[in-house]
Amino acid sequence: MKRKYEDQDDVSRYLRVDHAGELGARRIYEGQLAVLGNHPVAAEIRHMRDQEQEHLDTFEELLNEYQVRPTLLSPFWNGAGFMLGAVTAAMGPKAAMACTIAVEEVIGTHYDKQAKALTETQSGEDALAETLERFRDEELEHRDIAKDHDGEEAIGYPVMRRVIQAGCRVAIKLAERV
Ligand SMILES: [Fe+2]
Ligand SMILES: [Fe+2]
Repeated sequence: MKRKYEDQDDVSRYLRVDHAGELGARRIYEGQLAVLGNHPVAAEIRHMRDQEQEHLDTFEELLNEYQVRPTLLSPFWNGAGFMLGAVTAAMGPKAAMACTIAVEEVIGTHYDKQAKALTETQSGEDALAETLERFRDEELEHRDIAKDHDGEEAIGYPVMRRVIQAGCRVAIKLAERV
């Protein structure tokens, strides 16, 4: 049955890219904490880092359950995520929050698309779709935390947002395959 095969292929791609994304996300917050660990915003950043760890653990379990191989680029996602977090945090807490807004917007939309695709094709992956919807809501909560902490007021915010989001989209394309 061709359709069934395609669906499974989709799910494999989703899980691989989501797992890679959560690796990167956790490292972004670790990078931010390496610079801003003693700043008043650190508590919020730790909260987000802890949620990314939960997301990552969930995708690790799902990769096993669905027997999907993980990304081959873990060292890359680890390095790139940490750098992005540390560099933006070094520019100041508002720049760190600007980075969070940019990244979480993309991830929120990404999970939303996946959840809708699973639901609309009646893939039967209801539990997975629900997990993706919950994660989408948590990523959008991260975006809102960053907005509340004046990420939009960072110097050069529009450019930063555009550059980081373009980078995220390239990363998504890459992570689906490798
Ligand atoms: Fe996440
Ligand atoms: Fe997040």
